[in-house]
Amino acid sequence: MSQINFIDIGAQRRYLGARIDTAVNRALEHCMFIMGPEVGQLEKDLSAFCGARESLSCANGTDALGLILMAKNVGPGDAVFCPSFTFAATAEVIAWVGATPIFVDVLADTFNVDAKSLRAAMDKAKAQNLKPVGFISVDLFGQPADYDLLEPLCEELGLWLLSDAAQSFGATYKGRKIGTIGFATATSFFPAKPLGCYGDGGAIFTDDAELANVIRSLRIHGQGADKYDNVRIGINGRLDTIQAAVLIEKLKIFGEEIVKRNQIAKAYNDALGDVAIVPRVLDGCTSTWAQYTLRVKAGKRDAITAALRERGIPTAVYYPKPLHQQTAYKHFPTSGNGLPVSDAIAHEVFSLPMHPYIDANALDRIVSETRAAIAAA
Ligand SMILES: Cc1ncc(COP(=O)(O)O)c(C=O)c1O
Repeated sequence: MSQINFIDIGAQRRYLGARIDTAVNRALEHCMFIMGPEVGQLEKDLSAFCGARESLSCANGTDALGLILMAKNVGPGDAVFCPSFTFAATAEVIAWVGATPIFVDVLADTFNVDAKSLRAAMDKAKAQNLKPVGFISVDLFGQPADYDLLEPLCEELGLWLLSDAAQSFGATYKGRKIGTIGFATATSFFPAKPLGCYGDGGAIFTDDAELANVIRSLRIHGQGADKYDNVRIGINGRLDTIQAAVLIEKLKIFGEEIVKRNQIAKAYNDALGDVAIVPRVLDGCTSTWAQYTLRVKAGKRDAITAALRERGIPTAVYYPKPLHQQTAYKHFPTSGNGLPVSDAIAHEVFSLPMHPYIDANALDRIVSETRAAIAAA
């Protein structure tokens, strides 16, 4: 019984073959490892791909979010809303800059923010004497949040909207590409992400040229006219040239990979919809399927994933504990009287292998073993 990979970066590496070697070797020859020509080329390619006027590469997705908050001068006394059912980095950056994250609940069918919970969270900011300034929406597992609801709501509440698209770069919301929603977008090129590099990487997208210029300065120690002219406190947040070289090649096949990811997700949905709650994609939207996540009855999940592990099918749980329950974050406020949906789904979710190189045999095996494991649980 062969082991199936949860994410198969090796298969992609083999598919790309000499294209990666040539691109990396070119960087090894010119030796401009910091802000070399590939960095600027990648930024142009990213803008052409997603339609954002400004694309700025950076060291990772966490820095991408943090740089945007720094450029917005978010700080102590400010409240920033974000989902609790997300990766820690979404809330981490809010605390980094000295502001207060206020956690909001999500919807069980899309895993994305519930607009009602966001509205209710405004009271918590006021009760704590905090100034509500913005909302970080997360496109969890690759599907855009419901921006037709969230954009007008943020406008009504006087909040800016920052899109944490670490998992959704390449997706679309009703014809709009991720990278063009909100005043700015942050993404991650962590290797396991739909568009990943061979180490850490990230990017920021915006149409706001002034904001982009501030972020360009912030990512290189707050540089002014040159790197020994420091006009603001910044960070070392650059993307390595070698990672840019890898990403230029990977971006060329990203479109075809997204098609394959969607074919696999559809096959899973068709084959498993009668035995588990399969993920719902909003009408008119596409997902990049950073994760393909099922829901099963709480209490059954661990038996199902254990049975799958024994049969050579890896699974993962994103996320076993929502942020408002985590040691580092539980003292921060939550919307309403707690976040019941985030609490419940944390016990129900598990993700199946998802990558563009799952072949028909592996897909059949995953589906039949998953059906068997659910039936036996
Ligand atoms: C929703 C979300 N936000 C932010 C990040 C941070 O990205 P990185 O790991 O590149 O710092 C990640 C990924 O890990 C993520 O999944």
